[in-house]
Amino acid sequence: MNNVHSQRVNSLLGALEDIGRDAKRGGYSRPVYSAAETTLREWFIAEATGRSLEVSTDANGIIWAWWDVPGSAKNAASRRGALVTGSHLDSVPGGGAFDGPLGVASALAAYDQLAAREASGELVRNRAMAITVFPEEEGSRFGVACLGSRLLTGAIDPVRALNLRDEQGNTFAEVATAHGLDPARMGRDETALAQIGDFIELHVEQGKGLNSEEHTDHAGRGPAIAVGDTILGHGRWRLSFSGQGNHAGTTLMADRSDPMIAAAQTIVAVRSIGSAQDNARATVGRLEPVPGGTNVIASRVDLWLDVRHPEDAVTAMLVEKIHGQAQKLAAFEGCTVHLTEESFSTTVHFDAGLTRSLAQSVRRLVPGAPLLPTGAGHDAGVLAALVPSGMLYVRNPSGISHSPQEYVEDDDASAGVLALADALEDLL
Ligand code: GLV
Ligand code: MN
Ligand code: MN
Repeated sequence: MNNVHSQRVNSLLGALEDIGRDAKRGGYSRPVYSAAETTLREWFIAEATGRSLEVSTDANGIIWAWWDVPGSAKNAASRRGALVTGSHLDSVPGGGAFDGPLGVASALAAYDQLAAREASGELVRNRAMAITVFPEEEGSRFGVACLGSRLLTGAIDPVRALNLRDEQGNTFAEVATAHGLDPARMGRDETALAQIGDFIELHVEQGKGLNSEEHTDHAGRGPAIAVGDTILGHGRWRLSFSGQGNHAGTTLMADRSDPMIAAAQTIVAVRSIGSAQDNARATVGRLEPVPGGTNVIASRVDLWLDVRHPEDAVTAMLVEKIHGQAQKLAAFEGCTVHLTEESFSTTVHFDAGLTRSLAQSVRRLVPGAPLLPTGAGHDAGVLAALVPSGMLYVRNPSGISHSPQEYVEDDDASAGVLALADALEDLL
């Protein structure tokens, strides 16, 4: 694969490699509007401005870098129905280097390709293009994933969003204000939505799809790129167990109402309920005992549940089963439990016409590029409710993601840039 492109995307990502490293967890922790994520946003603005793209941050904190049609008015009217590509720069705690930044860096590198093609007369455009960066895609600071795209599309009530709190107790309103945003202007943005004619997000593959038996050759190697097909319906719920906080040394074992026990037994139940259902995923990845002391029986334990399934009714049934089991286990321990839904995204089928176009473009470069479903959520999935959206995935040899071990080979990153550039060119 052409080294120039690989160097371009790698050197873009290389500039980010020391930002937001997490010495304790490994990998990167770049929560939205943290110092690390802010530095990445500034990096993107500098890169886009350096390419003479017109950069602005909208009311919901989404950064837009515009490549207008030569000679056009550069306003909302001339940008209506534009081709938009992008991803996010925030990360999960202890995440990898590619989830989000690969899509943003590849969009910049694909733009470089397209600008060169336009300069040589090979590309003649009659459509504006923009690169976007979405805030809080992971929901790792305020709990609701894809918060920027949910606000943009009206999928979340801005009042609810503004009152979300991070672990330190800061509201989203406070943090957004400190970053120059006006909470009163947040919410569904018809002007911005009208500017998205099609949205394409390139992303690191986050499972074993491209390396599955179905897609690999005799050497066990799958194609470098896939085209997005569906996103598994998914949601997040909080289970709050309440019991009797007490002294670890003076409280006899028989006298305890320990919410940690009910929570621990519920976690085991989540595993068995999830495993018993075909195509389901059920995870507890976060647990918070209050007050959280070694010699303290907790008075409350919050745990966060992530459940995913292609059929939303099955997801609802699984959550109900888990809640029922949690209630039984809590009662047995002399505790209570309360369930709160924090977010839910229905299963997404990407736009058929756009997906066909992406597949055609990508297969010129990577003939075996398959259509691939994913279990991971994306801003493209939220936008898909209102605008034609599609995705490209770049092979991840191990399939590991949301981990420091997430990885993309240079040649595959290069193929991703070229595939994205070709796909965008075909739509411009
Ligand atoms: C985001 O990456 C998610 O799938 O939760
Ligand atoms: Mn992610
Ligand atoms: Mn992502």
